[in-house]
Amino acid sequence: MSAPVGSFTPREIVGELDRYIVGQRKAKRAVAIALRNRWRRQQVPDELRDEIVPKNIIMIGPTGVGKTEIARRLSRLAQAPFVKVEASKFTEVGYVGRDVESIVRDLVEVALSMVRSEQRQQVATRAREQAERRLLSMLERGGAEAPSTPPTIGPFLVSSKGAVTPPSSADRRSERLADLDADELKRRLRAGELDDELVEFEVQDNSNPLVSVFGGQGLEEVESQMRDMLSNLPGFKGKRELRKMRVAEAREVLEEEEAQSLIEPEAVKREALRRAQQHGIVFLDEIDKVAGQRSHSGADVSREGVQRDLLPIVEGSTVSTKHGQVKTDHILFIAAGAFHVAKVSDLIPELQGRFPIRVELESLEKADFERILKEPKNALTRQYAALMQAEGVELQFTDDAIAVLAEYAEQANRRAENIGARRLHTLMEALLDELSFAAPEQSGSKVRIDGAEVRRVLAPIMDDQDLARFIL
Ligand SMILES: Nc1ncnc2c1ncn2[C@@H]1O[C@H](COP(=O)(O)OP(=O)(O)OP(=O)(O)O)[C@@H](O)[C@H]1O
Ligand SMILES: [Mg+2]
Repeated sequence: MSAPVGSFTPREIVGELDRYIVGQRKAKRAVAIALRNRWRRQQVPDELRDEIVPKNIIMIGPTGVGKTEIARRLSRLAQAPFVKVEASKFTEVGYVGRDVESIVRDLVEVALSMVRSEQRQQVATRAREQAERRLLSMLERGGAEAPSTPPTIGPFLVSSKGAVTPPSSADRRSERLADLDADELKRRLRAGELDDELVEFEVQDNSNPLVSVFGGQGLEEVESQMRDMLSNLPGFKGKRELRKMRVAEAREVLEEEEAQSLIEPEAVKREALRRAQQHGIVFLDEIDKVAGQRSHSGADVSREGVQRDLLPIVEGSTVSTKHGQVKTDHILFIAAGAFHVAKVSDLIPELQGRFPIRVELESLEKADFERILKEPKNALTRQYAALMQAEGVELQFTDDAIAVLAEYAEQANRRAENIGARRLHTLMEALLDELSFAAPEQSGSKVRIDGAEVRRVLAPIMDDQDLARFIL
């Protein structure tokens, strides 16, 4: 169960990020190096490996220039457990809100589902074979599975609806199947010819009997422990229930059950914990929101409290989760913030020291906007073209149109607040307002937007300061 972490070189990582994010070379390089360092560390002999702690990063830059976007894309590449959290969501221990240790717990959950789905793939073939075997034997019996264990009835269970009817009522069509020889049955099953036959067998009923007991936040750990505790009581252990379904459906249910039986939960848990500890990446967004000028009153006390709470986790401590203990020493933290009002130096010194790598993201200009509008795989112009395609309208933008849009974006950012590439969203919405409304009636047409059209629609708004402030 080894993780395929870090198979990308820094150059490849930057290359991948380039497909979605324009410019911001320094930030891309920094995260690429940090990611690769995780892999390098894995290659180092044991004694030294534990000495090498990750170099955490702070990304500093104005709003809307790609900080969160870089993190989002990185997470896809990382093939490592990754969580993104907003620092401003947390409050100091003792206040109402989420406690910072939940970050680590979330990371473990992410690692668990990663490992689980890998395991699932590894046992997929065997699970499929075993499920097929069970299906065949049901079909040979005319549709019902020989009951393995008598249905268990827990102390909280009064219903007896499925349990009293014996698994016999397979219909007549299926009874003819019992006459077929095994090979013929298997051939038909594989060819999907039996998909509509009915089979009847016991399945685990996994619906959770426990509704949310605690409405508030911050108690999620208590709640999940309660859930676990209760689900171990005999009465809550999902009861087995007799169900009748189509072969096509049954195949999925059985494969799932067989896969579960082939996966060892303890091993999955161990691997998940290891992976969270060794490869985990935490993206702490909006870190500047918990940095305050050092005035000791009201909200600021709480903000500094959050920083103090974060410190041990970033520094390396042990957090207990319901799956086991997690040491946070080697988790990589990438923090980001606009740092408009607060500066990095407004963070408590201990925390500053834990983020030795600082990268600044540049604010975006006309040339960047032009590229952002057309180059990324998910560029806005492509998104709108795809949306219009759904209405049967072919939407095109000329380079001239894009140049004018980029220019307007820069102007609007200069005059009002600089919201970076987010400005492009408001401009595009305003530009395409008419078309968005009328598109269904224009199905089959081609709409070509050029510079003149952009000016026609947007110039009146741009020229009216008040209107611009309101709409763009
Ligand atoms: N350099 C860029 N290249 C491509 N798209 C970008 C770039 N910068 C921003 N965008 C786009 O602008 C939007 C906002 O970007 P993002 O969420 O990354 O901002 P941010 O830097 O995290 O800002 P904030 O400080 O407000 O959180 C996203 O839709 C993103 O796709
Ligand atoms: Mg952001």
